[in-house]
Amino acid sequence: MKGLDTIILGDALETLRDLPQEIVDVTITSPPYNKGEKNKGWLVDKIVYQGATDIKDEKTYQKEQIAVLNEIYRLTKKGGSLFYNHKLRWYRGQMIHPYEWVRQSRWVIRQEIIWHRRIAANLRGWRFWQVDERIFWLYKPRNQSDRVGPELKPRHALLTSVWEIPPERDDRHPNPFPIELPTRCIFSVLDGNKGVVLDPYCGIGTTLVAAVLLGCHFIGIDISPVYVTIARERIRDAEKERDRVQAELSLHKVQKTFEERKREGRWVGRFSPLHKPIVSPQQPLPYSNRDHEER
Ligand SMILES: C[S@@+](CC[C@H](N)C(=O)[O-])C[C@H]1O[C@@H](n2cnc3c(N)ncnc32)[C@H](O)[C@@H]1O
Repeated sequence: MKGLDTIILGDALETLRDLPQEIVDVTITSPPYNKGEKNKGWLVDKIVYQGATDIKDEKTYQKEQIAVLNEIYRLTKKGGSLFYNHKLRWYRGQMIHPYEWVRQSRWVIRQEIIWHRRIAANLRGWRFWQVDERIFWLYKPRNQSDRVGPELKPRHALLTSVWEIPPERDDRHPNPFPIELPTRCIFSVLDGNKGVVLDPYCGIGTTLVAAVLLGCHFIGIDISPVYVTIARERIRDAEKERDRVQAELSLHKVQKTFEERKREGRWVGRFSPLHKPIVSPQQPLPYSNRDHEER
């Protein structure tokens, strides 16, 4: 197909509007968060993009994000997915959760994944240090009766809904993805099949490099010519990043099936010995039976 394996310099919403419908299998993206850029702590002050501001009236911002989500929906194939990374923010003490606008889009919300980043962006004590961001797994149904989609293979599902992946440090961009994150998203939903991967806020191209190394086609968009140039260079040198992608893929492995473990009377919470179970079978569960019944 024409227009694949390209990075477009431009505004995400305008560019998405020009793309044909139902061409994308999976999108992984992280928009600017509308954090404001002043008096928000030392780390936020450092997160200033080349060629774009990150301060908008919140209503305008959310309206634009809904429009972007809906454009991605339009150009996603039926059965396709979008992994939308965002975070909880506070404005004058009021929490703003990305669910507020994500639920207003056309997508079916399949899951809210916690991205446990291990480090906090702001070390003041107004709240417990915030070490998480959110990743919404959004799904475009195949038909009217499909609200759930096909099951993930156990080798992917075992990675659980909490992803402990440290943030990336790279002098070329204030907050690029660690390459493990888009790798996990693409590999989990495509399960090794080839497809078309989109990132409409691609920054220095991490999602696109992951796509290339997984044998997929890509489309990237970013408003900064500086980041687009770096992204193109990274794609040319993608092989240099293969080891990290490979290390992520090696986590998608079922040691023993659920049935085998159950038969042996073993712990069945997680399959891979690479992960320590959250609770061992000897420890009490972190909730009482009563809590459990009330869910
Ligand atoms: C959170 S960063 C994404 C980083 C990316 N995931 C990576 O790994 O490099 C958000 C990106 O959105 C870009 N951006 C800001 N406003 C934009 C707009 N209106 N259209 C397209 N890109 C925009 C910024 O230049 C920045 O690179």
